[in-house]
Formats: sequence, structure tokens, C-alpha cells
Amino acid sequence: MAFAWIDEQAELRRRAGLVRTLRPRPAQSPLLDLASNDYLGLARHPEVTEGAARAARTWGGGSTGSRLVTGTTELHHELERELAEFCGFEAALVFSSGYAANLAAVTALAPHGSLIVSDAGNHASLIDGCRLARGSTQVVAHAEPDAVRKALRTHEGAAVVVSDTVFSVDGDAAPLAGLAEACRAHGAGLVVDDAHGLGVLGDGGRGAPHAAGLAGADDVVVTVTLSKSLGSQGGAVLGPARVIDHLVNAARTFIFDTGLAPAAAGAALAALRLLRGEPQRAARARAVAAELHARLSAAGLEAVRPDAAVVSVRAPSPEGAVRWAADCRAQGLAVGCFRPPSVPDGISRLRLTARADLSDGQIERAVRVIGETRP
Ligand SMILES: Cc1ncc(COP(=O)(O)O)c(C=O)c1O
Repeated sequence: MAFAWIDEQAELRRRAGLVRTLRPRPAQSPLLDLASNDYLGLARHPEVTEGAARAARTWGGGSTGSRLVTGTTELHHELERELAEFCGFEAALVFSSGYAANLAAVTALAPHGSLIVSDAGNHASLIDGCRLARGSTQVVAHAEPDAVRKALRTHEGAAVVVSDTVFSVDGDAAPLAGLAEACRAHGAGLVVDDAHGLGVLGDGGRGAPHAAGLAGADDVVVTVTLSKSLGSQGGAVLGPARVIDHLVNAARTFIFDTGLAPAAAGAALAALRLLRGEPQRAARARAVAAELHARLSAAGLEAVRPDAAVVSVRAPSPEGAVRWAADCRAQGLAVGCFRPPSVPDGISRLRLTARADLSDGQIERAVRVIGETRP
């Protein structure tokens, strides 16, 4: 029978406690939300939703085709100009998702015969970029510039190092200065995914590369998502203008994908302008993360010290993590639950996200529920 192997895989997943199911989400949830990536609490900000609505009214419900076919709007240009300027880069190019931006950056910058050095903790979209690229990939130990240096020494010719700036599972930061130094010693390019850094790290949320003094460097390329701090949807690549021109000509997820939806571009632009005007939102997200970590640790829970807004708490097993998250939900608290294959080291976790708009009372309540429901 066709697809019979699907049933066998489903049974194996069930036995390992790794079945994933979709849950309905009401428009107005009564839950305290520590599961979303809406770090700055902007997804429902009236200026952001109005930015989306205005853009849809002006430009339509969709982009109607690849920007190379149906043309590019002033809205896309405006977003690209303001994003690049805010983060300190020469140019930017927006994509329909952060996932597509990562596929674009890695595949277009790692041609046949080149080497890609990829951190073992990288996000799935960077990993998939490595899989699709024509260059060959060496996966190196997590957050170790020495391992990167060693890998680069094995290769003559073009090379690129790819890393998350803030790793999505544990919320720890990459050693960006060390990575840049390793790249420069070898003449390699550095591609970093700042999905969890934009809006949280750096001066006023300008991101981890800005904080590390790498903004505007001609050997550094940054990818971001518009779906976390900016409360919208979509992604972007930021870097030197010649890299961005190259992506327009060579990145398949730009060329063969419908342009970013106008509503998403309008929402992201409104959020970016809010962040520029209210830089304290970034500092508050970091402070909430630090407070969450301190209180969880004081309650005897094994939480990783956060470098940005992701706070990870170890769970005893995949089943334990799922039960823990469900028990939190039953007590009115939404938390993320990460388990294999989403965790490279096989350790299951609860994943909490610190939001700038959480009150001290909400932080206290969240920690109490997590402590009381601990398996
Ligand atoms: C580190 C990282 N990079 C890229 C992405 C993908 O971004 P998007 O959701 O916009 O496709 C995510 C998560 O969504 C992420 O956590």
C-alpha cells in the first residue's frame, strides 16, 4: 500500500513520546503567554495591525508574484532601507520568511567548491541551507571559535562560517567577536542569523552583530526574521550592497518565491518605527529574561542563564516535558516545549520567552506555576 511506511514512523514516534499535534488557538486567549516569540509585545500593537491593514488596502492581499516578475513596491523598498539603516548595514533584501532568508544567504554564498562551517547548534533553516548549498559542510562544536579555525584551515578557497547569534533552544549567545576573528584570519565570510537578537540585543535592539561591532562590515552578512520582535511575518538579509545584489540574482528563495506580503511588510515597518522610538522595549525584554532566570533558579529549577530573551528549563524526558507544558497550560500558562528532533543534544526542555510587556506580577505567577507543575 502506498505510504505504508508512514504508519510505521507514526508508531515509532508514539512509542518515543514524540508525537506532535496541532492545538486550536482562539483570537483572544486567556492564557499567560510565555510561548510566543513576540518579544516586544508588538504583534497586536494598534500601530502594527494598522500598518498591516493599510498596506493590504493599498497594495492588496498578496504580492501577486516574485518581485522580479511583478515588480517591487515602494513599501518593500522602504522596509529594506529602514531595516538596513537601523541595524547598521549598507543594504537589505526582504523574503517571505526568515527560513527563506536563511536558505538564500547560505546557498547563494556557498558555491560549488566552497566550504561551509556550521555550528552544531544552528537553527534548522541554516542546516537546510547547508544541505541545499553546492559547497560542502563541516559541522563544528557549538560556540567554539577554535573549532571554526581548525575547520577553516582544512580548506583552500572560498569559505563561509554560519551561526545563530542567539541559539533558539537554550538562548545562549554565539561568540561573535571570536567567529569574526577566525573568519578574518582565513579570508572567510561570516553569515549570522540574528532571529533572536534583533529587537532584544544591541543599542535599542539593533541586534547582536551591532552589539559586537560587526554592523556594516564588508565580510559580514546577517539574516533576521520579521516574525519575532517585529511581531509580523517574513525575513531579511542585511549586508554589503554587492552581496544583496548577488542575492537578487542568485538566491532561489528570492527569485522563485512570491514577494513578502504587503500586510507583513506594513506591519514590520510599523513595528520597526515603534522600536526606534521606544528603545527601552529591548532593555525591558532582557530584564524580564534575567528576572525569570533568577526566580526559576531560586525555585531550584535548572534554567540556562539567558543571553537574550529565550529562557530554557531542563525537563526530565520528552514525555515529562510534554506533560509539564500541558500542566502549565491547565494552570493558565502557555510555555514552549522542545524535544527531539528539535534539540540537537537530545535533551528536552521547556522554552520560555521573556516579553517586554510582562508585568512583575505575571513573571511571579509564571514561575510559581512552573515550579508547582514540575514533574
Ligand atoms: C534562529 C531562527 N532562525 C530562523 C527562523 C525562521 O524564521 P521564520 O519563522 O521567519 O521563517 C527561526 C524561527 O522561526 C529561528 O528561531
